[in-house]
Amino acid sequence: MIKFNNIYKKLNNREILSGVDFLINTGEVIAIVGQSGAGKSVTLKHMVRLMSPDRGSIEIDGEQIDNLSNSEIRNKRSKIGVLFQSSALIQWLSVYENVALPLHQRTSKTENEIYKIVSERLKWVDLFESKDLYPSELSGGMQKRVGLARATILNPKIILYDEPTSGLDPVTSRKIDKLIMKLNNEMQLTSVIITHDLISALSISSKIMMLHDGKIIEFCNPNDFIKSNHPVVQKFVNSQKIL
Ligand SMILES: Nc1ncnc2c1ncn2[C@@H]1O[C@H](COP(=O)(O)OP(=O)(O)O)[C@@H](O)[C@H]1O
Ligand SMILES: [Mg+2]
Repeated sequence: MIKFNNIYKKLNNREILSGVDFLINTGEVIAIVGQSGAGKSVTLKHMVRLMSPDRGSIEIDGEQIDNLSNSEIRNKRSKIGVLFQSSALIQWLSVYENVALPLHQRTSKTENEIYKIVSERLKWVDLFESKDLYPSELSGGMQKRVGLARATILNPKIILYDEPTSGLDPVTSRKIDKLIMKLNNEMQLTSVIITHDLISALSISSKIMMLHDGKIIEFCNPNDFIKSNHPVVQKFVNSQKIL
């Protein structure tokens, strides 16, 4: 469960979030859409307290995260997987080492146990054969899949994706969408996916949230979303219509 209670946030003296208020229930799959600069990534960063609100409070699974100590927030974060826009892979570590990293850092598992877990997850994202390659040797889609494997390696309850298909061709994008759906089903995750891609949002999510000028202008199921009367939503939907 992720709950934002009337969140306000200024950056560089500009109000980026202006009273963002929502509840995402456990097990839901939410897509966040909105034009570039709408505050999507800023919203996501608040969910793991990489940013803190000026006003309002944030709850994860019923617990307010604003006042948690550093060790408490680290503990909370270990239950939340994040796939950042850049994939954020470590360039000097192999595919295997990147995916194993959270297990080395956050658990006391043996090398053998880690090998078993990582190998399984790499097979799952179809990258086992590539386990010794380095990020610079991978295609964009492969990098996203490594990011996905790493973000889920600690079996999180919540997973946040920041534009998982940006920069990918349509065929590869749909493959990533399918992988995300498979993850949701098998791990029963609460998922938040930031995307500019309406096709992804419609096929993956149970509800779509649209941010505009730091406010939520629509938050409803995909069917209602495409029928929304809000002019900004209509414009967004029409701009992505496939002819
Ligand atoms: N760390 C920061 N410092 C100052 N301004 C920022 C920072 N992060 C984001 N912004 C600004 O906040 C606005 C929203 O950013 P962001 O949430 O990244 O947009 P998007 O919806 O494209 O993900 C943008 O105008 C951006 O320039
Ligand atoms: Mg962004």
